[in-house]
Amino acid sequence: MADTDAMVLVTGVSRVFGRRIAIDRADLTLMRGRILGLLGASGSGKSTLLRTIAGLESIDAGTIAIDGRVVSTPGLALAPENRRVGMVFQDFALFPHLTVAQNVGFGLKGRADRDAVVGRLLERLRIVDQSQAFPHTLSGGEQQRVALARALARDPAVILLDEPFSSLDGSLRGEVREDLMETLRETGTSAIVVTHDAEDAMIMAEDLALMDGGRVIQTGTPRDLYNNPTSVAAARLLGPLNLVEARVHQGVATSVLGQKSAILPDGPVRMGIRPTDLRLTGPAQGLQARVASVSFAGGYCVVRVKTDTVALSLHLPGEAPRTGDVVGLTVDPARLMVLPD
Ligand SMILES: Nc1ncnc2c1ncn2[C@@H]1O[C@H](COP(=O)(O)OP(=O)(O)OP(=O)(O)O)[C@@H](O)[C@H]1O
Ligand SMILES: [Mg+2]
Repeated sequence: MADTDAMVLVTGVSRVFGRRIAIDRADLTLMRGRILGLLGASGSGKSTLLRTIAGLESIDAGTIAIDGRVVSTPGLALAPENRRVGMVFQDFALFPHLTVAQNVGFGLKGRADRDAVVGRLLERLRIVDQSQAFPHTLSGGEQQRVALARALARDPAVILLDEPFSSLDGSLRGEVREDLMETLRETGTSAIVVTHDAEDAMIMAEDLALMDGGRVIQTGTPRDLYNNPTSVAAARLLGPLNLVEARVHQGVATSVLGQKSAILPDGPVRMGIRPTDLRLTGPAQGLQARVASVSFAGGYCVVRVKTDTVALSLHLPGEAPRTGDVVGLTVDPARLMVLPD
């Protein structure tokens, strides 16, 4: 992977606020024309990292390069307006006293082609009919499109989106997400999307970076990270997880769930399995357990079971057992994750 293919290259970046290390030697690469998801729990440093890339925050160590040019090092920071970066904030941050068209054209003041650029963007993002409306009269999805149009207006090399769906819910969230992806792909825009929602991150992002405690703990494709997390923190970020104690001996990890080869030193580890990767079998087969509770969740049931030693959660589509039933469980060894303690 040549560095010239990198649109944003973050190398060893740290940001300290007083005694708090908000970003801890983070490495991150956004490839040209791709969508990178930044997934992490609240307080893990996602917004701060995004703000350092935008130039809204200085850095205490490392370098940030955009399109091959160093824009931040300790003691040097190119101004945000000179970085060719467009930013969409969590609350969209539209100017309430300006119309949609004026919001979109805000960064183009004095440019002769302003009206033409604004017109094109309004059309592309399907907000032409709302061009004279004020932000407070728009739906969440429309406001998001205005914010995106405004960010795209100055023809940025990169768009940075901080929790773009957090003020939306239900079907609108899905629609806006589809819309946003389509626009980014159509325009070939390189983008970093910050979210704390695993599903948003996996659906949107071609590449994913996981953050925990200010560090980027793992990067890869969503599928790769979901199936092969290298730590408990990474596994947890991507979805619900059952964890049991396990032990490695001579390259094989063993737990109540089964065995799996592991390139780890002898000693205690943990074994993880997703609730969707546990199956029911006949009561006399597999790992014996008793059903502790069953909750209907729409397309599946959440079934909690207890064995002699562990409690596990299953997501079962279709027919579910009843509370109190004795069941047998099978585990596909390929779906087991061995996670260092
Ligand atoms: N200006 C600041 N001054 C002091 N501490 C800050 C500042 N900005 C961020 N922090 C701290 O840095 C850490 C990371 O914050 P950040 O906002 O980047 O997290 P986040 O991952 O975006 O969280 P959320 O999902 O809640 O938005 C937090 O502990 C936060 O309190
Ligand atoms: Mg944030």
